[in-house]
Amino acid sequence: MSRKKIKLFKPYVNFYAILNVIKTLRSGQLAEGPRVKEFEKLFSEKFQLENVCALNSGTTALELAYELADIQEGDEVITPILTCTATNLPLIRRKATIVFADIDKDLNISIEDVKAKITTKTKAIIFVHFGGNNRGLKELLEIAKEKNIKLIEDAAQVIGSNFWGKADFTCVSLQAIKTLTSGDGGMLIVKDTNLFNKAKRLRWFGYDRDLKQKQGDTDLLEAGYKYHMNDITAAIGLGNMKSIDKLINHRRSLINEYERNGIEAHIWFATYFSDKREELMNFLKENGVETGIYHYRNDKYTVFGGRKNFKNMDELENKYMILPLHHDVSVDDVTTICNLIKTFENK
Ligand SMILES: Cc1ncc(COP(=O)(O)O)c(C=O)c1O
Repeated sequence: MSRKKIKLFKPYVNFYAILNVIKTLRSGQLAEGPRVKEFEKLFSEKFQLENVCALNSGTTALELAYELADIQEGDEVITPILTCTATNLPLIRRKATIVFADIDKDLNISIEDVKAKITTKTKAIIFVHFGGNNRGLKELLEIAKEKNIKLIEDAAQVIGSNFWGKADFTCVSLQAIKTLTSGDGGMLIVKDTNLFNKAKRLRWFGYDRDLKQKQGDTDLLEAGYKYHMNDITAAIGLGNMKSIDKLINHRRSLINEYERNGIEAHIWFATYFSDKREELMNFLKENGVETGIYHYRNDKYTVFGGRKNFKNMDELENKYMILPLHHDVSVDDVTTICNLIKTFENK
C-alpha cells in the first residue's frame, strides 16, 4: 500500500473564503473598501493589536516599516544572516548599511552577536520569528529600548505564536502558504499612532482614504506607494479567519508530537539537523515526505556583497532542514515522519 504523500506546505482556503470572494466579485467593489476595513478590525481584535494597516504583502509591510523607521543611506541595520531575502532586500534599496548578525543553534538571530555589533550608527534591529520562533524577542525589546534603537519584527511566519507584535513595527505575511492566508497580503502594525496614520497615507499614494481624501481635491504632501490590500484579498482573509482557532490548535498538536519525539518545532514549521542532510531528505522523499531548506543564508547572494564568516551559520548551513507542519498534516503523519527519521539515523 502506498503511503499518503506529505507535502511541505499547502495553502489553506475554507468554504467561507470562496463564498466571500464570489460575493465580493459581484459587489462592484474590488479595490480597497469595506472588506479591508473589516479584516483589519477582526485581525486587530483577534490578536489584540492596535494600529493594524492592511497591505498587499509582507514584503511591502517591511518596505513601509523601514521607511517609517526613517532608515536612510548609511544607517546601520542589524539583521539576521538567515532569513527570507524579503527581510533584507528593501534595506539595499534604502542604501542602508546591512550588518548581518549570526544565528543561534535554533536558527533565530544570536542576541550575543547583535549586542557585539551595536554601534552609535545603529538605527534599527530586525528580529525574524524564524518558523514562528519568538526566542530572543524579549531581550531585544529591552536592548532596543535602552539604546533607543528601532526594533522591527519580521513576523511573516508568526501567526499562532504566543509572543509577537511588541516592537515599534511588526510585519506579517498573509502569503499563500502562511497559517492565515489571503492569497497574498500583509499586515503592518505600528506602535506610534502618528506613524500609523502615515502608513495609511503612504499605502495609497499619500492620501488618507479614511478622511475621504481624493486625488485632485487634496494636495499631496508625501510620495506614497500603491501598497494597499484590495477587497478580493480581504475577502479571502476574512473567510479564513473563521478557521483561525482550529488552524492554530491543530498546529499546536503537531508541535507537541514533534517535541515528544525530541524535534524542535514552532508554529510554522519544525526543524531538524543532520550531518547527512541530503541523504535524509532523499530518504524522506522516497517515503512520501517532502522537506526543504528554508531559507538560505543571505550572503550567498551577490546582491548582499559577498560571503562572510559566521560561526553558527557556517557550522549549520549544510545541516538544517525543515519538516511539514500544517493543516493537512495529521498527528499520525508527524509520528510517521519522526519514526522515519529514527529509522534513517539508526541505519
Ligand atoms: C521571513 C519572511 N519575511 C518576509 C516574507 C515576505 O512576505 P510576503 O511573501 O508576504 O511578501 C516572507 C515570506 O515568506 C518570510 O518568510
